[in-house]
Amino acid sequence: MNRTRRILEVILILILAIASCDGSGGDIPLRCDEYDSMGYMDVNEAFCTVTGFTVTHSQNVVIKNIPPGNMVKFMKFYESTLLYMPFHLFETFPYLKTLDLSNTNILELTRNAFSAASNLTYLNLAYNNLTSIQTSVFIGANVLMRLDLSYNEISSLSVNAFCGLHTISQIYLTGNLLKELHNDIFKDNEYLEKVSFEGNLLTSIQPEVFRNMRRIKEVNLSNNHLIFIHPDTFADAASLENLVLSYNELKNFQLTEKNIVHQLHLDNNYLTNLTINATRFVRASHNQISELFLHQSLHIETLDLSANKLSSISISQISHICSTWMYRIIQLDRLISAPFLNLRD
Ligand SMILES: *[C@@H]1O[C@H](CO)[C@@H](O)[C@H](O)[C@H]1NC(C)=O
Ligand SMILES: *[C@@H]1O[C@H](CO)[C@@H](O)[C@H](O)[C@H]1NC(C)=O
Ligand SMILES: *[C@@H]1O[C@H](CO)[C@@H](O)[C@H](O)[C@H]1NC(C)=O
Ligand SMILES: *[C@@H]1O[C@H](CO)[C@@H](O)[C@H](O)[C@H]1NC(C)=O
Ligand SMILES: *[C@@H]1O[C@H](CO)[C@@H](O)[C@H](O)[C@H]1NC(C)=O
Repeated sequence: MNRTRRILEVILILILAIASCDGSGGDIPLRCDEYDSMGYMDVNEAFCTVTGFTVTHSQNVVIKNIPPGNMVKFMKFYESTLLYMPFHLFETFPYLKTLDLSNTNILELTRNAFSAASNLTYLNLAYNNLTSIQTSVFIGANVLMRLDLSYNEISSLSVNAFCGLHTISQIYLTGNLLKELHNDIFKDNEYLEKVSFEGNLLTSIQPEVFRNMRRIKEVNLSNNHLIFIHPDTFADAASLENLVLSYNELKNFQLTEKNIVHQLHLDNNYLTNLTINATRFVRASHNQISELFLHQSLHIETLDLSANKLSSISISQISHICSTWMYRIIQLDRLISAPFLNLRD
């Protein structure tokens, strides 16, 4: 009898000990650094910055002392660890337009986190610890324009990751671990203008990814392992301005009946020929280019072809170009014996 009682006592003491070890648990209130002074501010400039706010796994962020429905438009965390998006953030801050949660050790985005984010236009989640983006997590952020998910560890993007973002114009996924993209990843995002997948592990991109994107202007795919870009990839784009494909493994690149208006970067690939159609700034150094095909070449302002194999280039391919002008624009490094020089005659 006594023995059983002793055992029960020991168990009770253990439970109490565990409970008190967990002393850092429970609720942790969110405080704005400068909330008090906000009464003096222009309502349109009301902001909340939070500095040195560290949440542990056993704590829940609670928002007390801040009136729900306040007019704060801008919120940013400095030197803080959140682990998760605070629950009900947008119920307290319904007018938030800019939310900067960069560098706050966020591990996961949960569903409904943005269900009340009806005025959010810019969300910065760069430099966090996200490994995946689940189905429809941004639902509710109906007017989001710019989403930065750069420099996380994202290796998995749900096909519905960007669902509901009907007005978004910029999505940045630079510096993640993506190996592939679902064909329908941007099916809801027909207003996309800029997208970056720079510094991922992509080996291919299906042309369907950019289907229906009439407004796409800037695409950064540099620093991946792309071996092929389908010629119809940007077929629906009305005016593609910048395409960055540097540091990939492309052997061939040409778009069907399309021109890139402003910049085309193809340096550090394995191209053996280069077709340029009315692009102003072209970077194609560090390839194995021996043939050049120029269309509407009067548009060219800069063409960097250094570190290629252009000594065998055929003059007829470029003979229609004004020679002195051509001489000016081509970087002649390693091209000393190239026929471009003859064009001056
Ligand atoms: C967001 O802004 C619009 C005006 O752009 C306003 O009508 C709407 O009520 C706002 N939403 C919330 C939750 O405050
Ligand atoms: C998030 O990633 C950084 C950099 O890799 C690391 O130092 C940090 O410990 C990670 N945080 C968590 C909560 O895992
Ligand atoms: C695109 O890639 C280049 C490197 O080739 C980089 O310098 C530039 O900042 C990138 N742009 C964006 C928007 O990520
Ligand atoms: C060059 O671009 C124009 C669109 O500006 C297109 O109509 C034409 O077919 C392109 N030429 C080539 C050879 O791709
Ligand atoms: C350019 O090079 C690629 C790869 O070697 C080749 O498939 C393609 O036909 C070439 N293009 C032209 C116009 O010669």
